[in-house]
Amino acid sequence: MKSSEKELLIRGEREADLAAIHEINLLAFGQEDEAKLVDSLRKGKSYIKGLSLVAIKEDKVIGHAIFTKAFIVNKAGKRQACIALGPMAVHPEHQRHGIGIKLVEEGLERGRELAFNSAVVLGHKEYYPRFGFKPASERNIRSTFPGAEEYFFILELKGGGLKGISGVVQYAREFSMLAEAKKKEKPKEPATEMPNEIQQKNLSQQSGDINTVQPGGENILNSNPPPQ
Ligand SMILES: CC(C)(COP(=O)(O)OP(=O)(O)OC[C@H]1O[C@@H](n2cnc3c(N)ncnc32)[C@H](O)[C@@H]1OP(=O)(O)O)[C@@H](O)C(=O)NCCC(=O)NCCS
Repeated sequence: MKSSEKELLIRGEREADLAAIHEINLLAFGQEDEAKLVDSLRKGKSYIKGLSLVAIKEDKVIGHAIFTKAFIVNKAGKRQACIALGPMAVHPEHQRHGIGIKLVEEGLERGRELAFNSAVVLGHKEYYPRFGFKPASERNIRSTFPGAEEYFFILELKGGGLKGISGVVQYAREFSMLAEAKKKEKPKEPATEMPNEIQQKNLSQQSGDINTVQPGGENILNSNPPPQ
């Protein structure tokens, strides 16, 4: 299908889109981490076919969002699958034109169709509540990321889907692999993927030990990879 000049098309990624997806993540985040993460998520067990989405305009990829499989694990070790949004990126020249919103809406709809009960995201607190995301802490659900409570959100995709569910969300192992690789590198500028507030908080907590922050990153790094 061709996307006309004005029409924005959201569809699942294809082989021919991969280089453009890498480039958009690079441009939007201003660093390579997220682009590499997306490349590795695509090869991992948590990749969900049809949930790595591209936004196309004039036959060009101008935005991307990936939802991977994650698990909410309770104290007894019982787990419920959910989808985790991120990274997502819109080409800087096309930001703030509603493209991100369309990508998220389509992904949530697809997740619902695939019978996932919930979606989680760690990110901008002004952005995600518009989709119905609520602070995960209200349901006693948290990420393993220190200081992220107010940035960690959950959305029930079907009524009652989160009844009785609480625990810790374990992201795809690729998030921790990236954090592991980062740890070995010399500390440098923090990633822009996370809201600055989180980065600041963590920088001060780490008293000079600057680590890149990823959804599910730093702490999952110290825990076992999620069972897949
Ligand atoms: C965040 C991002 C994906 C949003 O996509 P987008 O297409 O620019 O956003 P949209 O146009 O769909 O969103 C429109 C609304 O979200 C708001 N918004 C966009 N980016 C935002 C941000 N970073 N923080 C808070 N609000 C934001 C806009 O102000 C606008 O609000 P309004 O409708 O009340 O005016 C995009 O800006 C981007 O790629 N940023 C860099 C990478 C990044 O931060 N990714 C997210 C990781 S958590």
